[in-house]
Amino acid sequence: MSQIGTLSIEDKQEALQSIAAEVRQCQRCPLHKFAIKGVPGEGAANAEVMLIGEAPGWHENQQGRPFVGAAGQFLGELLRSVGLRRDEVFIANVIKHRPPENRDPQPDEIAACLPYLDRQIELIDPRVIVTLGRFSMSKFFPGERISRIHGTARRHGNRLVLPLYHPAAALHQASLRRTVEEDFRRLPEVLVESRKLAAATAAPAPAAETARPVAPPTPKQLGLFEG
Ligand code: URA
Repeated sequence: MSQIGTLSIEDKQEALQSIAAEVRQCQRCPLHKFAIKGVPGEGAANAEVMLIGEAPGWHENQQGRPFVGAAGQFLGELLRSVGLRRDEVFIANVIKHRPPENRDPQPDEIAACLPYLDRQIELIDPRVIVTLGRFSMSKFFPGERISRIHGTARRHGNRLVLPLYHPAAALHQASLRRTVEEDFRRLPEVLVESRKLAAATAAPAPAAETARPVAPPTPKQLGLFEG
């Protein structure tokens, strides 16, 4: 078991705060020069659900908090529609400083910033990750198209990843908004399935099984979520 698996909630909170402090000082790429505040992410250190967006926008840059503008209001509605509060989940972004004029993040900026997100995921160890938009989707499913895979949870290691369109895109297109709302409604069943997956992967293998070679886990689409 990794040491992180044995950390108390207080230790995890402290480690997340220390990542947040690093993000606020970060100069690993030029984005900090144009930004007002770094936006590390926020939420419960033991969240079962982690939501990952693209990058801070204007409001997030002012406040240093993720998803506090129009897209954030919509995200709040989506969470409430499945009975979740913001403080029960963890909300983060791939990129922690706002790109100028909200332009797309560049590959070198993503590469510089990803270690922060990786550390957050490792610490929080969520059962379900909801990716919001194509940049966070690409972290888990490189080469995929959001139009093809949105709304279908897939296994990634020991957790499930539910790729969604970005809420900001949905705000500009009524049909996409309905799609995002429908996709989001799958979250409770995905969470139930992820708990079963966690229980199954934590259980010791029966004696007869232990002698067999075990294939490495591959990202696998679960039948329950197909179609
Ligand atoms: N869009 C994002 O991707 N992240 C935010 O924090 C806000 C808007």
